[in-house]
Amino acid sequence: MIETSQVAKRTVKELLEAGLQVTPGALDIILSLEPSVVSLIIRKIKVTDGALVLTEENVRKLIEEKDPRKVTSVKTPKSEEEWSAASPSMKLKPALTAKEVDEDFEVVMDPTKMIGTSGSLNDFVNYFKDRYMRLSNLLLRRGDIKGIRRTCEVGRAEEVKLIGLVRDISKVRSGSMIIELEDLDGVVSVLIPGNLTDKARYLMLDQVVCVEGKSNGAYIVADNIIWPDVPFDHKPRRAEDPIMAVFISDTHFGSKKFMEKPFTRFIEWLQGKRGDEKTRDLAKQVKYLVIGGDIVDGVGVYPNQEKELVVEEVYAQYDIAAKYLENVPDYVKIIAIPGGHDATRQALPQPAIPKEYGEPLYEIGVEMLGDPAYFRIHGVEVLCFHGDSLNDVMTALSIDQHHPERAMIEFLRGRHLAPIYGSTPLSPEPMDLLVIEKVPDILHCGHIHINGQENYRGVIVINSGTFQDQTDYQKSMGLTPTPGKPYIINLKDFWVAQLDFTGD
Ligand SMILES: [Fe+2]
Repeated sequence: MIETSQVAKRTVKELLEAGLQVTPGALDIILSLEPSVVSLIIRKIKVTDGALVLTEENVRKLIEEKDPRKVTSVKTPKSEEEWSAASPSMKLKPALTAKEVDEDFEVVMDPTKMIGTSGSLNDFVNYFKDRYMRLSNLLLRRGDIKGIRRTCEVGRAEEVKLIGLVRDISKVRSGSMIIELEDLDGVVSVLIPGNLTDKARYLMLDQVVCVEGKSNGAYIVADNIIWPDVPFDHKPRRAEDPIMAVFISDTHFGSKKFMEKPFTRFIEWLQGKRGDEKTRDLAKQVKYLVIGGDIVDGVGVYPNQEKELVVEEVYAQYDIAAKYLENVPDYVKIIAIPGGHDATRQALPQPAIPKEYGEPLYEIGVEMLGDPAYFRIHGVEVLCFHGDSLNDVMTALSIDQHHPERAMIEFLRGRHLAPIYGSTPLSPEPMDLLVIEKVPDILHCGHIHINGQENYRGVIVINSGTFQDQTDYQKSMGLTPTPGKPYIINLKDFWVAQLDFTGD
């Protein structure tokens, strides 16, 4: 408390010395920022327009300009000693073990019982209307978007702000871009001048964004683009106790390339049978195991898949999965969603794997949810999404396939898990369940088979890789997977580490 009020006093003093007054809303935001960012803002406002009163709106604008894509790398300790040293709440020997802590799990959103559509043209029209409305509302909740106009109201020579769905993106010779922006009334062309293309290169088709600019009657010349994004002052929710959650994905049970040895080591570690005392202590803290889809390899997913399979029946593949997972200590809750290889509907959002196929997993008590699923563990909110649409985003934005976390950050920025319509099959549900309505504390994906981790505006972004060795297809694509390396997160202090079960 003393520390907070001292920081506040120092900040107010700095503002007054710079000759600036602040509105109460602006002060709230400023006090939530790092002191170095506050100093930068003060310097910037002095040199830009010399404004004397800082409002909430211009503080938000300055922060956006300063660092629109703030990403902080997560440190991964290299040794077991570093693991415990790096985690503030693990410095002392933990008083509680996961065995002694009651389960605290709550589903916030599971698509399984929320979906069902005929897929008619009208369903698609309504789906995109719903997407537009939901994302518009998220944009309007930002403090810096006021005075929105509709496309039908845009007159000549006036400053306008429009929210629209990006219907087309094209580049013109001068280095500028032209986008077509659609709202509920019509479509308008927007010229993105060369000085904005650094920002505009992150635009994707079918995203909903706000454009600020000037209309000349025929089109709008943009001077800013705003995504719904994660509020920069997002404060992650934390657990009261140093409870650990482990995240894995793409186990592909039933595939000849499933890596039995690393997975067995992983289970033995969870059982407290591997590693030194510190490592075993860490395992004792694990209360949750989250599986991000592609639990099994499936049947008939791609041509000639049968040659790559140990068993050719999907039920038998889930049986293999259950045989491994039943060895996870019974006080660890297992939560699983499906992926593209699992036996459920392929179009997103996917319902949970039905009992008809996944019965062996239901029988051992796995919490089977749909894709995406949003749940709460010890107060910490997790959005778990297999990630079928990651390829679309990576291709559209030329993101290296070895950095899936960069595409995941774009999900957060646009607040949508499958922005581009066309390649990844989407089901036109009455409600667009792929909109990220609520900012999670952890965003977990798989699908690419490559690990990746970042911290984007307080949200831990992890792609937990795979337990499947490189397939021939991946080899032909030049993709080198990173198998056997799950993530562990301390839900109290958000310490993140990448485990490694590839060696003895
Ligand atoms: Fe996979």
